[in-house]
Amino acid sequence: MARPVVFVTRKLPPAVEARAARDYDARLNADDRIYTADELAAGALGADALLICTSEKITAGLVARLPGSVKAVSTFSVGHEHIDVAACRARGIVAANTPGAMTEATANIAMLLMLGAARRGYEAQQMVRRGEWSGWTSTMLLGVDFSGRRLGIFGMGRIGRAVAQRARGFGLTIHYHNRRRLPAGEEQGAIFHDSLDGLLAVSDILSINAPSSAETRHVLNAAAIARLPDGAIVVNTARGDMVDDAALIAALKSGKLRAAGLDVFAGEPQLNTAYLDLPNTYLLPHLGSATVETRDRMGFMALDNIDAVLQGRPAPHAL
Ligand code: DGY
Repeated sequence: MARPVVFVTRKLPPAVEARAARDYDARLNADDRIYTADELAAGALGADALLICTSEKITAGLVARLPGSVKAVSTFSVGHEHIDVAACRARGIVAANTPGAMTEATANIAMLLMLGAARRGYEAQQMVRRGEWSGWTSTMLLGVDFSGRRLGIFGMGRIGRAVAQRARGFGLTIHYHNRRRLPAGEEQGAIFHDSLDGLLAVSDILSINAPSSAETRHVLNAAAIARLPDGAIVVNTARGDMVDDAALIAALKSGKLRAAGLDVFAGEPQLNTAYLDLPNTYLLPHLGSATVETRDRMGFMALDNIDAVLQGRPAPHAL
């Protein structure tokens, strides 16, 4: 009997591809080329499910072109701003994601960014690697302590809470803004602000951990930056489009902000090149979930979603 066809649109970790090929007629992308919308529509012909990444924009237009055989679109990500979920639903296609798989890894990267920004990690790396380190001095590359400072977390979902857990160990006081206040037992002393403006005013360090949406696009704009304390640090492990790059770059240049640690960028990998010239940026290439264990877990969760739908069960992580 013919096996169900799963169109895997990007190259995925070997263990994930092996499971896909074991259980399905898996159409893999060995070259890892990013497909155009036309290629996605063509590749989906005869497929029962799509296993996609954030690089594939599943717009209403593309959903309309998917063949009737497609029953599920499962993304190898927690972020799902690239999927028109309503359009999928309207065609009876289950859209699903991988929440929770990358919580720890992403929170760890947020701490790396925080430390890299607060302790001048980029300048230090440059100095050592360029052979410009002429010896210890008492005033060389001074950063700032965490103790006594306030961390403002915008978006207190799984990742935000995992960042809070880590940051407490560094002596930071936790403040947060979220659509809903956490139950008291989950706050663990974190101070809730019912407005983003309220959070910004107390954020010596701001960590962006909210999902990208029409409402959060450019949420960190010039007006928002002006509300941050002078010398604040901004860290973003969520999505680049939540930051107005021009405003952030201006504030990093003027000294309004001390530093920024960024793992995500609007239009990545084509980031605003002005970031590259700034010594007070600590930049990573979207590494939030990039550990062996996490990427395998993401792939397995994405396949669990497909397994469920193709076996007539609800997807465990349907959107
Ligand atoms: C996610 O899961 O959303 C990560 O950012 C990977 O794209």
